[in-house]
Amino acid sequence: MTSRGSHQASAAVASALADAERARVLFQSVGEGGYSGRYVDVAGRALLNFASYDYLGLSRRDELKQGAVEATWRYGTQFPFPRAMLQSQLYLELEDLLSRMTGGHVVVASSTTLAHVAALPVVVEAGDAVVIDESAHASLFAACALLPGIPIASIPARRFDLLERELESTFALHRRIWFVCDGMSPLHGDFAPIDELSDLIRKYPAFHVYIDEAHSTSWTGTNGRGRALEQISDRSRVVVALSLNKAFSAAGGVVVFEDPSVAARVLRGRYLAFSGAIPPPMLGAAVASAKIHLSPDLVVLQERLAHNIRRVISQASELGVPLADTTETPLFFLPCGSNERTLALTQSLRDRGIYVCGVVFPLVLPERTGIRFTISVEHEFGDIDNMMRAIADCTGNLPVSL
Ligand SMILES: Cc1ncc(COP(=O)(O)O)c(C=O)c1O
Repeated sequence: MTSRGSHQASAAVASALADAERARVLFQSVGEGGYSGRYVDVAGRALLNFASYDYLGLSRRDELKQGAVEATWRYGTQFPFPRAMLQSQLYLELEDLLSRMTGGHVVVASSTTLAHVAALPVVVEAGDAVVIDESAHASLFAACALLPGIPIASIPARRFDLLERELESTFALHRRIWFVCDGMSPLHGDFAPIDELSDLIRKYPAFHVYIDEAHSTSWTGTNGRGRALEQISDRSRVVVALSLNKAFSAAGGVVVFEDPSVAARVLRGRYLAFSGAIPPPMLGAAVASAKIHLSPDLVVLQERLAHNIRRVISQASELGVPLADTTETPLFFLPCGSNERTLALTQSLRDRGIYVCGVVFPLVLPERTGIRFTISVEHEFGDIDNMMRAIADCTGNLPVSL
């Protein structure tokens, strides 16, 4: 792009962001009423919340608050040593619980992004190649950028059907291929095709998968281990990243390995060993959350959430709401096709007391803009019905129909 072209592009980005801020869709602050799970105070008004990742409502559970408080009294607000020097017992306890949850060897990092940054440069070796899904989360692209000399090819967004062809042209030239993708799309809520990936693992001995399960953590799979760990039986060529930041309701990211020696190398690698530790309050909350994940309580929460998810899907079909995808996940997307319509719909819903996430350019391309909404265990069927009815009503009133 010429410097004039790039100036115009950044002006378009700045202007779109300013529009979204003026429309009170982006860069807002919560009001005095705070966040209570079902409701969130936006601009002084309690709105029914359909925008957070707190799918299981763990963030305000007494056990997690208690875990955070006890860890703070024991270690202070910060444990001021890099892990490579001295780590708090909470790390060991958390990793032990996470190993039980996942059945693998785990490494905890202070974010999912840092987990990718620490893991990918260790697992991808000289002579390997990477194929990445174009719609993968930015954190995976950031980590792949740290792989000097590794060829990186891509498949178009979520076109998993094209993967095998891409692999066949790449296999001839490289020792191993790592396919890198999101397990559940943070935009549309659809899943990566785990069965097909398992077939490819069986078919091609050089095929490896690195899958980001940030959005599948907690709400699905035994002990909340997500879908990939639940469904892929041969994990010898699979690395899974989970998030402690979303439904897990603590802080950090986790990478799960089959091979303990790889986990040890990641932990000792240059990106993790001397980076700041997760502060004790959040480690305490994470330990408490992991204990809930290992208890029968989690199954009850997952089932309650599944009921709510199905309610959205049945309401969408009854009311003719054209969701982008109706996979049974707690995250849904309604395409709007332009920033203008996305902002208008977000505002109309807010006028009706409903808070959703307007996904506008530059977060996505203008034609891929729309409304993203999330469901939690705290919603009642009446909340979901109101929200879906409001969407059906408001979409009819937009300047251009969807
Ligand atoms: C799929 C996915 N991966 C990674 C991340 C980054 O997570 P973190 O904030 O823990 O670095 C996100 C954040 O939204 C995400 O949606």
